[in-house]
Amino acid sequence: MCGIVAYIGNKEAYPIIIEGLRRLEYRGYDSAGVSILNGDIHTYKKKGKVKDLEDFVEGKNKSGTLGIGHTRWATHGRPNDKNAHPHNSGNSDLTLVHNGIIENYASLKEALAELGHTFTSDTDTEILVHLIEEYQKRDDLSLEKAVQKALKKAVGAYAIVVFDKKSPNKIVGARKSSPLVLGLGKDEFFLASDATPIIKFTNKVIYLNDEEIVTVNRDGSYEVVTLDDEVQNHEVKEIDLKIEELEKGGYDHFMLKEIHQQPTTIFESMRGRINAEEGWILVGGMQDHMKRMVDADRIIIAACGTSWHAGLIGEYLFEDLARVPVEVEYASELRYRNPVIRERDVVLALSQSGETADTLAALEMARNKGALLYGIVNNVGSSIARFTDCGSYIHAGPEIGVASTKAFTSQLVVLTLMALNLAKEKGTISEGYFRKLLYAMEDIPKKVEQILTLDEQIKYIATEIKDAPNALYLGRGYNFPIALEGALKLKEISYIHAEGYPAAEMKHGPIALIDESMPVIVMATNVSAYEKIVSNIQEVKARKGMVIAIVTEGDTEIKKIADYTIEIPETEEPLSPLLSVIPLQMLSYHIAVLRNCNVDQPRNLAKSVTVE
Ligand code: AGP
Ligand code: GLU
Repeated sequence: MCGIVAYIGNKEAYPIIIEGLRRLEYRGYDSAGVSILNGDIHTYKKKGKVKDLEDFVEGKNKSGTLGIGHTRWATHGRPNDKNAHPHNSGNSDLTLVHNGIIENYASLKEALAELGHTFTSDTDTEILVHLIEEYQKRDDLSLEKAVQKALKKAVGAYAIVVFDKKSPNKIVGARKSSPLVLGLGKDEFFLASDATPIIKFTNKVIYLNDEEIVTVNRDGSYEVVTLDDEVQNHEVKEIDLKIEELEKGGYDHFMLKEIHQQPTTIFESMRGRINAEEGWILVGGMQDHMKRMVDADRIIIAACGTSWHAGLIGEYLFEDLARVPVEVEYASELRYRNPVIRERDVVLALSQSGETADTLAALEMARNKGALLYGIVNNVGSSIARFTDCGSYIHAGPEIGVASTKAFTSQLVVLTLMALNLAKEKGTISEGYFRKLLYAMEDIPKKVEQILTLDEQIKYIATEIKDAPNALYLGRGYNFPIALEGALKLKEISYIHAEGYPAAEMKHGPIALIDESMPVIVMATNVSAYEKIVSNIQEVKARKGMVIAIVTEGDTEIKKIADYTIEIPETEEPLSPLLSVIPLQMLSYHIAVLRNCNVDQPRNLAKSVTVE
C-alpha cells in the first residue's frame, strides 16, 4: 500500500506534500516522512500519522521547491522511525520512497553488503536506493539510467520516486504493479499514488503503465520510457474530481459521510443505465461484448474482502436472473491455483480501488487463458480499469473510510443491472418480472434514506452490545453474503471478533458458541426462507442468545421473539441486500465510535492493498 507524493515546481514543496500525504493517509498510516531539497537533502520521518510528522518537523528547515513524501503500510520491518520512508543512499546524495515489495531484496542486500554498502533499516525498500547509487557510481550513469538498471534487477512490485541532490532539477518515478500518477501543472509536476493530492493544482494527469520510468524536469519537460528504453507517448487525461468530495463535509468521520451518501451514490450508479417507465436497462460496458457475454459458459468473479462479498451476491443474481453458472473466487487464491479458465468464460473483477494486487494478478492470469475480462471498478483510471477488456464504473465517488460502505452498495447496483441486462438479452426473465425489478431498483435510494433515519435506534442497540467479545451474523440466500459483510464491518473497525454464517449452518457447529453473551444478528426480512429463519431465531433464543433481527416493516412474528428488531422497507428479494446491509454498516459504525476506535483508519489496515 503506502501513499507517495512528490513535487517539483516554483512553490514551496513541503505544504503541498503534507497536504497530499493527508489525502493519501487512507493507504497506510504506520509512519510518514518527507525529503526536501534545499542545497542538501532534508529528510524527516516519524512513526505514526502524518500529524505526528508535522509536529516533529515544526520549526525545522523545510523550505525548498522539490520534495518527496510517503505514508507507510509496513510490509518489511516494524513500523518505527528508522523504517519510515524516504530512505537515503549511503553517500546521502539520493533519497527514495517506495510502495510495494521487492521480493529479491535479501539477495540484493547481500550482494550490496559485499560491495561495502551498509543499511540502516529493515525494509526491502532501502536496497533500491543503494542499488541506484551503486550503478551511478560504477557505470557513471544519470539518475534515470541508474534507476532503469536497478529496476531491471528488482523482482516484485513497486512505485518509486527518487531524486538526487547532484541533479537538483529533476525527479524520477517508476511503477510496476503499484500505482503512480503524473500530474501536469503550469511549470510544475506532481507524482502521486492517486490523483487526490494533485487535483487542487491541476486536472491533467498521465497514468503510468507497468515498467515505465518518468523523468520530470524543472524546465517543464518530461519523458516517459520503458525499462527497455522505449520512449512512450501518453495521452494526457482530464480528471473529473472535486475537492469537496475529498472532505468530511461536516460529518465526524468519512465512513459516516459515506454511509449517508448512499441514497445519492446508489442513484448515481444507476443514472443513465435504467428507465423503469420505458422498460429498459443499458449497461454501457456490456454492449460491445454482448454476444460473448450471452454465449459465456461461465462467469468467474474475482475479488477480495468486501468486493468479494458483493461478488457472492453477484453469483445469486446472475444465476437466478440470467441462468449462467457463476463461480466466485478470492483473487488471492485464484491467481495461485491452476484453475480451468477457458475462452468462453467471462472473468469479472470487482474492486473499489482498482489497484488490489491480488485481483490484478488474477486478471493477468486469466488473460493468458483467453477469457473476456470485465472490470467493475470505482476508481477512475485505476490499474484494473485500464487492464480489463471492458467494464463499468460504479460512480460512487471517492471512498476514503477504510471500511467500504458506499462502494459495496454501488457494486451491487452494477451487478444487478448487469444481471438484468443479460437476462433480458438471453430471454431468461419475463417482461413482467423485469419491469417489476426495474421499478423496485428506482425505489431503492429513497428506501435507503428511510433506513438512515433509524440512526438513534441503531445507536441504542450498539450501546447494548458494544462490549461483547464475539458476534454472530446469520442470513440465507441473497442475504447470506450480507451476514459475511456485516461481520467483516464489525471486525475491521471495532475489533470485535465476528463471524457470518448461512443461518441453517449454525446447527452444524457455531451453535455451540451461543450463550447470553453472544449477540446474534439475523437477516430476517420477508424473503423466501422466512419461516426457516424464524426457526433459526428460535434455536438461538432457546440457548439464551441475544437476537437482533433485521426485519421487513410491519413484521409482527419476529418482534415477539427477538430482543431487538430493526425494521426496513420491503423490496424484491434480489434487491434486498441493498437495504439489509445499511443497518449493519450503521451498527458497526456506532459500536466502533462507542469503543473509541479509529473508525476511518482501523489498525493494521489500509484502503488500497497493492501488495500481496
Ligand atoms: C473493506 O471494508 C475492506 N477494507 C477490504 O476488505 C476491501 O474490500 C478489499 O481490500 C478489496 O479492495 P478493493 O475493492 O479496492 O479491491
Ligand atoms: N515494502 C515497503 C516497506 O515495508 C513498502 C510497503 C508498502 O508499499 O506498503 O516499507
